[in-house]
Amino acid sequence: MKKRIVLIIGGGIAAYKCLDLIRRLKERGIGVRVVLTRAGEQFVTPLSVGALSNEPVFTNLFDLDAEREIGHIRLSREADLIVVAPATADLLAKMAGGHADDLASTVLMATDKPVLVAPAMNPRMWMHPATQRNVRQLEADGIRIIEPRVGEMAERGETGPGRLPEVPELVAAIEEMLAGSPAGAAREGPLAGLHVLVTSGPTHEPIDPVRYIANRSSGKQGHAVAAAAAKAGARVTLVSGPVTIPDPAGVDVVRVQTAAELLEAVTRALPADVGIFAAAVADWRVANAGEQKIKKTAGARAPSLSLVENPDILKTIASGKGPSRPPLVIGFAAETENVTEYAARKLKSKGADWIVANDVSPASGVMGGDANTVHLVARDGVESWPLMSKAEVAARLVARIAEHVAQRREAAQ
Ligand SMILES: Cc1cc2nc3c(=O)[nH]c(=O)nc-3n(C[C@H](O)[C@H](O)[C@H](O)COP(=O)(O)O)c2cc1C
Repeated sequence: MKKRIVLIIGGGIAAYKCLDLIRRLKERGIGVRVVLTRAGEQFVTPLSVGALSNEPVFTNLFDLDAEREIGHIRLSREADLIVVAPATADLLAKMAGGHADDLASTVLMATDKPVLVAPAMNPRMWMHPATQRNVRQLEADGIRIIEPRVGEMAERGETGPGRLPEVPELVAAIEEMLAGSPAGAAREGPLAGLHVLVTSGPTHEPIDPVRYIANRSSGKQGHAVAAAAAKAGARVTLVSGPVTIPDPAGVDVVRVQTAAELLEAVTRALPADVGIFAAAVADWRVANAGEQKIKKTAGARAPSLSLVENPDILKTIASGKGPSRPPLVIGFAAETENVTEYAARKLKSKGADWIVANDVSPASGVMGGDANTVHLVARDGVESWPLMSKAEVAARLVARIAEHVAQRREAAQ
């Protein structure tokens, strides 16, 4: 049967992306009925929305004709999914507070269907404690939030978390929820009910606007771990540096560039039951990164880069006290020599529970390759696993996590 969504468009600058979203959903045979908030109408017109969706556009709670034809209760119940995009700070606050003073908020209160919310706003509005509190409340109420992406804002010179994810990502999340896959439905598996946070990929540390310092990490291992954890029923947040591989299915992906952004995204994603730190975070960044492209001048000396240390993300999280430290913290160590010895030292110095150590010497072909030989280093010993694919390493690691969680649950009873 044809799937149908109600798309609520709030009053944010990113509302323009929803015109394309409607087209892409229609191409996939998904029916889209749109509710525009009063502020939403300032950004996209009912005329364009109606022409693209080929359905009436709903704007007013007290519209006699609309109420007679479909009615706000039918509107909220006939859909398979309600999507709010862009969700403004104001809409999030209204939803968290249970307001119903216009059509959008009344539909959201009256619905018995899953709700997917894609916030988009200025980074300061997003990071404001009130917004963060509202988002946590909505998550606790069972609403799925697609985290805004980090990047340039429409306002000049503003960067940070707050961008609406691109249309293909929104389409993927909507299709996943409509298919009743793990992201939308109750999850099953040994990690069901747990939030697993995974970092993956390299970081890019700018030298100037066009150059950066990076490393050879492809993100394949971290992404495979995120996919395996989602398959085992966990709710997974994947914080990924710049990679060229696709997002794993059923996982919330937060994209970052630098170590500082990665730490910020990780902190925002907490609390988590398990933290798996597989990203190859640059140890240093350029202290004097140029705001303009550094020019080569004939006869002049080559510029020298001065480096400063980046935040140690594994140590920051693993050594944290209280609820912000996941009960199980797993670090990845990439070494080119004395692999298990260095990993055991890293376990102690960072305060992690386990370290997955891999040999990334050029001869091993691990960096960018599809296979890995790893050693699982814990406080009570080292397990060396044979050469296997990165997907197999991920599955085995997730199986070990599941065992550990089961033991902990048993001990707690
Ligand atoms: C030019 C402009 C752009 C705006 N962009 C955003 C935005 O991206 N996100 C947001 O939360 N609010 C944004 N606002 C503020 C909202 O429009 C305002 O809070 C409004 O009351 C939200 O209404 P809604 O709850 O119907 O979406 C913007 C306002 C203006 C004037």
